[in-house]
Order: sequence, then structure tokens, then C-alpha cells
Amino acid sequence: MSYHAIAAAAAFLTARTGVSQHDALVVLGSGLGEYAEQLPDAVRIPYEDVPGFPVPKVTGHGGSLISAPICDRRLLVMSGRVHAYEGWPMSDVVFGVRTAIKAGARRVLLTNAAGGINPAFSPGDLIIISDHLNLSGMNPLTGPNDDRLGPRFLDLTNAYTAGLRWDLAAVLTDLDLPVHEGVYAWFLGPTYETPAEVTMARTMGADLVGMSTVPEVIAANHMGAEVAAISLVTNLAAGISPKPLSHTDVTATAERTRATFTKVLDRFLPILVAHDD
Ligand code: HPA
Repeated sequence: MSYHAIAAAAAFLTARTGVSQHDALVVLGSGLGEYAEQLPDAVRIPYEDVPGFPVPKVTGHGGSLISAPICDRRLLVMSGRVHAYEGWPMSDVVFGVRTAIKAGARRVLLTNAAGGINPAFSPGDLIIISDHLNLSGMNPLTGPNDDRLGPRFLDLTNAYTAGLRWDLAAVLTDLDLPVHEGVYAWFLGPTYETPAEVTMARTMGADLVGMSTVPEVIAANHMGAEVAAISLVTNLAAGISPKPLSHTDVTATAERTRATFTKVLDRFLPILVAHDD
């Protein structure tokens, strides 16, 4: 997907919302999309309306961009995302994030459902992602580099912005929730990992496993945005969990945790949009 396609989608957003500049983007992961339903004065744009935008097919994922006013700023929400395991090219997987950043978003919060590997984590916990392991063999920046988006060789030392991690930790503390950080290992999926793969990931330093987020983190960093990411532990990873994994259990945990997740976003999003000019 070319730079022009990204610019055209961003221009469409501006035209449809009448908002010349969005401040931040939130991507809502599996089972977490409901948050977008209750934002006051929001403009909802189905993905299929946005030129070039990939439309998700997996059940349990929504499929719209929501533009909402918040604290005198403007928030974009992506409810639903496309994944590499569905066969989408990397350029489609990161199209939404690139469009939002082109439309002005300087900060991005990515959320996902993940399997917990770290024994300190339990289903229902929210974990601040501190770093990642890309175990997929894929990267959204392969191919010719477009210098208008960002540099050819991207440093990822601070891919997850320290200040935003602090802010997230403060929000969790204020809400009397446990504060955990963790390294997220991206597996391509769509199979859940084998127990041996989970042991490998643990040995390599992972605390969480999942099938998303890392491409968007890379693309957002490429364009110079600040990134925060949070995982909802929906299950213990394969081999750690005493029972087989199921998508139904994943969405059930997300459902059960919705009220907590909502409180965290209600507190964190005003901080996210309030970037320094
Ligand atoms: N593995 C990969 N992705 C996931 C998991 C998991 O255990 N749980 C939710 N998404």
C-alpha cells in the first residue's frame, strides 16, 4: 500500500469528520471493541467506507474507525484490526495505524488479548508491554523504504515509550490494580502455540504470547509516533494452562474484564491525547 493510499485515507478521514488534526489513536483488540460504543459525540466510520482500508473478517472483531472528542483533543479509535494470520499483507496490517498517524495522531495505544507465560500473571490481568520478540519472521518494513514514512533502518530500543509506560502504571495503581510489565512474543498464528513453543518463548525472555500488535508497533515507531501497548491476559499459554485453549474462553475473559478495561481507558486516554505541542 503506497504512501499515496495512506495520504488519501487520511484525507478522507479529515473530510468525513471535519477534524483537521487527530491527536492519538487507540486500537482495540479481540473482545475489547465495545469500548468504542459509549464514547460521546463520536463519529463512526465503517472501515469499508475508507478508501484502501482493509476490512476484518474474524468473528468477535468489529470494523470501524471512531473519531471522538476528548479533553479538548481528538481521539481516533480502531475497533477491529486485520491480522497477518488471515493472509493480509503486512502493508494492510499496518494501514490503519499509518493512516491515523498521517491524520495527526502522535501517540498510539495498542491493546490485545494474549496468553500469559509469566507465572505471576493470571487471566484477567492487564500487562503493560515493555518490549517484544518478533518470532513471526515477518516485518512491515521489508521491501523498498518510503522515506516519507520513516528511516530504512529503524532503532527499536525505546519502541514502547517509557513515559507512557509510567503513565499506564500510575493509572493501574490509582485503580488498585496490579502493575505488571512484560515482553510480548509475536507468533504468526492462527494456531495457538505448542507447549514447546511456549517453553522456547519463556526461555527467550517472553512473558506473553500473541498474534498481533508487533507490526503496528514497528510501523508507528517508523513514523515517529510514541507507542504504548497493553495486553489483557485472557488465558494461560499452552502447556501452562491445564486445559486446551479456545477462542471462546479468550473472548469470555475479555468480556469478564470489560469493566476494568473501560476504567483504565477512561483514565489513560485523556493522558494519551494530551501530548506536548
Ligand atoms: N496465544 C496466542 N494468542 C493469543 C492467546 C494465546 O495463548 N490468547 C489470546 N491470544
